[in-house]
Amino acid sequence: MVVPSSGGGYSVSVGAGVRSEIARIVGEIAPSRRCALITDDRVCAHWGEELHGLLAQGGIDTLVASFRPGEAQKTRGSWAALTDQLLEGGLDRGCCVVALGGGVVGDLAGFVAATYMRGIPCVQLPTTTLAMMDAAVGGKTGVDHPAGKNLVGAFHPPATALVDPDFLATLDRRTLAQGFAEAVKHGILLDAAYADWLASAAGSLLAGRTADVVRAVARSIEIKAGVVGDDEFDMGGRRILNFGHTVGHAIEVHSGFSVPHGDAVAAGMVAEARIGEELGVARPGTAARVGGLLRPFELRGYDPSLLRMERLAATLRLDKKARRGTVELIGVEAVGRVGAGDSATMAVEAEEVVRIMRGWSSSGRSP
Ligand SMILES: NC(=O)c1ccc[n+]([C@@H]2O[C@H](COP(=O)([O-])OP(=O)(O)OC[C@H]3O[C@@H](n4cnc5c(N)ncnc54)[C@H](O)[C@@H]3O)[C@@H](O)[C@H]2O)c1
Ligand SMILES: [Zn+2]
Repeated sequence: MVVPSSGGGYSVSVGAGVRSEIARIVGEIAPSRRCALITDDRVCAHWGEELHGLLAQGGIDTLVASFRPGEAQKTRGSWAALTDQLLEGGLDRGCCVVALGGGVVGDLAGFVAATYMRGIPCVQLPTTTLAMMDAAVGGKTGVDHPAGKNLVGAFHPPATALVDPDFLATLDRRTLAQGFAEAVKHGILLDAAYADWLASAAGSLLAGRTADVVRAVARSIEIKAGVVGDDEFDMGGRRILNFGHTVGHAIEVHSGFSVPHGDAVAAGMVAEARIGEELGVARPGTAARVGGLLRPFELRGYDPSLLRMERLAATLRLDKKARRGTVELIGVEAVGRVGAGDSATMAVEAEEVVRIMRGWSSSGRSP
């Protein structure tokens, strides 16, 4: 499949075993036949040797640069350390980066590639469901800043992405489940039949059954590519992908990022759908339906214990997308239907969001 981009578009291959194409691809995009394989220590322990071997067999000279796993490493410091390694290794502009890992590796390695000698190609080899269905496609790269997540970065679409579900064999079930929050989100926004199919296939997807995982990953990439293709640089249309992420982000901040992203977004989608119902934007029953789609994935739905109300307003007001105390929520009207144009978003006072949500906890009713 080809993802449109201003650079002419890039191909994404989805399928068991597609990683074996890596040396051929690097050979095509890197005239020096050299690459930096950037990964984290956990992924490296499982897959580093195999990938290094595939590259060597194809005549590619590879510098392996690995860092400690986790979001805490997605920093300017790691970007500098990796860049130094590439310079010390003598990599020139004819080389490329191969990003092997989850979204942390993809964002960090992508940003190294975006800035190294003013930009060298990057091949994304995502190894988590979240990275396969979300992070590896769309061209956003970057690092976190003490002032917030992803505040420093660049648009640098991959030269290509090889999405191989075989990588999921070594991923724990809880991390594997997280990516499906984004898949369900894609369905809720634009394809109700896909959302229903995901929920019905959850058992098989969580068990990592290849045929179903390939179907889900391919459909999610297709939906994300359609949205991103119309708004590569995030000027408007792409914001619908933020559904569930405003409240979800507040949950992440509150928990000191101990609640995983998928769980936070799952709870955020249920809450935002319920807010939409109360504001007359979403059809009654939408939030319950959203919750029902997420439950088979063992993701947390709305859970009052996830939100400390007294701090929620402050967190929402500080949201990087908030404007003078007003937050922008996505106008999901029903599962599979999001408002068009101006109706794609609802501007809601942060205090109003808190008031609505306080009402749920005091009435003892969760959405
Ligand atoms: N660029 C984008 O458009 C975009 C979109 C969504 C998320 N993101 C970013 O993605 C990041 C989250 O990504 P993530 O959830 O993949 O986290 P992650 O990269 O931290 O991976 C989660 C954990 O799984 C381990 N792991 C990865 N693949 C494995 C495998 N196959 N086998 C065993 N262990 C494996 C990692 O070592 C890590 O400990 C965040 O930083 C987020 O900002 C970016
Ligand atoms: Zn997300």
